[in-house]
Amino acid sequence: MTEETAAFLVSEAGAALLARGARALTNDRALDPVLRAGALATLEGRERAARRGWKHADQLFLTADSLAQASSEGIAAFHAQCFASCETVLDACCGVGRDALALAAAGKQVTAVDTDPARLVFARANAAVYGLSERITFLCADVTTLSGRFDGAFFDPARRDGTTRFSADAERYQPALSFIQELQARCPVTVAKLSPALPDETLASLGGELLFLSEERTCKEACVVLGREPGPPQALLLPQGERYAATDEPLAVAGEPGAFLLDPDPAILRAGALTTLAQRTGAALLSPDDAYLTATEALPDPGARLYAIRTVLPYRERTLGRWLREQGVGRLVVKKRRYPKEPDAVHKELGLKGKGSEATLVIVADGKSWLGVVCDPL
Ligand SMILES: C[S@@+](CC[C@H](N)C(=O)[O-])C[C@H]1O[C@@H](n2cnc3c(N)ncnc32)[C@H](O)[C@@H]1O
Repeated sequence: MTEETAAFLVSEAGAALLARGARALTNDRALDPVLRAGALATLEGRERAARRGWKHADQLFLTADSLAQASSEGIAAFHAQCFASCETVLDACCGVGRDALALAAAGKQVTAVDTDPARLVFARANAAVYGLSERITFLCADVTTLSGRFDGAFFDPARRDGTTRFSADAERYQPALSFIQELQARCPVTVAKLSPALPDETLASLGGELLFLSEERTCKEACVVLGREPGPPQALLLPQGERYAATDEPLAVAGEPGAFLLDPDPAILRAGALTTLAQRTGAALLSPDDAYLTATEALPDPGARLYAIRTVLPYRERTLGRWLREQGVGRLVVKKRRYPKEPDAVHKELGLKGKGSEATLVIVADGKSWLGVVCDPL
């Protein structure tokens, strides 16, 4: 989107245009196509933001693309908490302003910078929607060319350009990840929002606290807080705020399956904190070759989905399929990490036609073969 289009959309005339709604704009052949595209992109962004539960979504200025790069409200609030000791914070790559807004709402004086003039127009308008304009100074600039000291800096570099994602390639980030060292030299508390797909060595080389943030059972980001003791990587589950630290302690393998199966949160696996989850829940690995836990008692924990096990059988199509049919099971919710086939193919190879009750089938790697854990969510 151009700066001109963004500026029009945030004006009173733009508000009147957006108020006409997507259908009317699509059908209005007299409307300038560039303006129509910008307005439709904004309406789509609002719709998606509303689905994600953003406050004031119907008044905000964002597109599907800028929303996809923005932090969620819960995660932006967590980022802001990392700056508890700071009065002034630089938001080095502010996009449409989600993190800048959370920082301002937490009482910080924010300088928000982005190279994209249209995004800045939107970010400024969003600050007005939230009544936070007085707390944020917006600058259209390449942040790597700026000097200036702040108590803290938030760094959320772009991990994609028009068509390509390069989440796992830190030096293609814009600005490059190495810029974080410069920020830290000028801003004692520097927090970076990075991809969890970055290699462990890259993340560890930055120093500082390393947290894998999870929301809705998705590992959303690797958050690095420089200026804090490194310590072991941790998984942080939001909104509960539960933490699970990595440990070198060995993880026991169960002699035989207990009555319950635990499916760990992906952020716990990414952080290497499965042993900590097992210790909290009195669980052990079901198989040494896969990251599912089993326990004899059901101890609910935010770090895992809990299932009551009906049976554990070797994954042989005929015997497992027969067992399921005998139990009246016709439909499966299939869960797996390493089994290569998709759920439809699993139904087919087990001879299930959809008639009958539903069960969950967890396919667990076990040496060169597989186990079929038939269970029900608790
Ligand atoms: C992942 S987005 C930031 C999203 C933002 N934290 C939010 O929650 O809305 C990254 C942003 O960095 C901006 N950017 C890329 N290179 C930059 C640079 N050298 N200086 C300032 N901003 C830059 C991009 O325009 C993009 O808007």
